[in-house]
Amino acid sequence: MTEELSGPTTGLQIDVQETRGSGPLLSVDNLSVDFRTADGTVHAVRGVSYEVSAGETLGIVGESGSGKSVTSLAVMGLLAKSAKVTGSARFRGTELIGANDRAMSAIRGRNIAMIFQDPMTSLDPVYKIGVQIAETLRVHDKSISRKAARARAIELLKIVGIPNAEDRVDNYPHEFSGGMRQRVVIAIAMANNPDVIIADEPTTALDVTVQATVLEAIKAAQRETGAALVLITHDLGIIAGMADRVMVMYSGRAVEVGSVDDIFYRPRMPYTVGLLNSLPRLDTDGRERLTPIIGTPPSLLRPPPGCPFAPRCPMHIAACDTAEPDLAAVDGTDPHWAACIRSGELAGKDTGEAGEVFPAGSADATLPAATGTGAAETAPHSQQPDNIQWKTP
Ligand SMILES: Nc1ncnc2c1ncn2[C@@H]1O[C@H](COP(=O)(O)OP(=O)(O)OP(=O)(O)O)[C@@H](O)[C@H]1O
Ligand code: SF4
Ligand SMILES: [Mg+2]
Repeated sequence: MTEELSGPTTGLQIDVQETRGSGPLLSVDNLSVDFRTADGTVHAVRGVSYEVSAGETLGIVGESGSGKSVTSLAVMGLLAKSAKVTGSARFRGTELIGANDRAMSAIRGRNIAMIFQDPMTSLDPVYKIGVQIAETLRVHDKSISRKAARARAIELLKIVGIPNAEDRVDNYPHEFSGGMRQRVVIAIAMANNPDVIIADEPTTALDVTVQATVLEAIKAAQRETGAALVLITHDLGIIAGMADRVMVMYSGRAVEVGSVDDIFYRPRMPYTVGLLNSLPRLDTDGRERLTPIIGTPPSLLRPPPGCPFAPRCPMHIAACDTAEPDLAAVDGTDPHWAACIRSGELAGKDTGEAGEVFPAGSADATLPAATGTGAAETAPHSQQPDNIQWKTP
């Protein structure tokens, strides 16, 4: 069907196939992003694919620099023209990659809303909160009256948990705390009943005590709109409470994809196990040892020929250096993929918790930081799976 997408500058016709309720709302397929820099080409995102359906939450997790934000910015058409984007991202069947600016600005805000880490990048300090929400509503529905827009703004503020919304709607952003500002951004994101919400580290800039209220506001926004949610974070703890499925990214690629239970209880990629081991556990007295993953990801300028995690992986063997492992299906009742030639060996280690693949000192503490020369090719490694210390249940 053809749907009228009225953007801020144009009433634009774009073919949008009606797939609501009958399949993924957003389908990303083999998406890659390269940046040309003075030092060479940075392969920031390499062949990422995912799908997300109405009401579903996909968590994207990975260390800093793994390509989480660039993937989403590419989908939203928000990268600079100098970025080379290939592959596909379809919203309800409509291709977004290569779509012109007018088409994309019509889709942004109305169909796909984005929440960024810093609320002040989305809020204008000189306008009252209510005016900004009403403006978002009017951009996509010019027929809405001022009175109706204000009433809807108050309603949205209540949904995201702003107390005394009837009065606070007339406040300026600086009169709100950081957590409240982020909840206002969430209200704006849900204002036009989007089909997809992409939240990129929505709580990272906030005090830990207010993170939970912001996550609650995102859940409320999703409940209210029925939107598909893509939640980007470096924090697996947030993923546990929010996501249905998880994509773990490393060095620009998806290295493990599965249901939240697969990722937490049946991880098949040592990197995922490392992320789990660096999480505090609630079922201990708080004195357990957290094991960070030592070392840094490889250069995205000149990636090593083999597995990009090899220099940091306690399960590394020589065969890991010959070719980058494909994301391949692994055992399990739900669809579950991992990019590791030894993922099958992790199957025997399931303990209902992440095994301790990363005993202290196993990953090379002496590993040089990635300098663009391909640290993976020269780094020492080498622990065999039999030597790996696994936590007992
Ligand atoms: N404009 C650019 N030019 C060159 N390289 C870039 C550019 N933008 C991003 N990159 C690189 O792309 C890679 C992926 O960056 P991205 O911001 O997606 O990481 P991230 O996973 O979101 O990290 P973080 O958790 O820190 O937000 C990084 O190595 C980054 O330096
Ligand atoms: S075992 Fe080999 S392929 Fe698997 S994550 Fe470690 S280095 Fe990569
Ligand atoms: Mg980011």
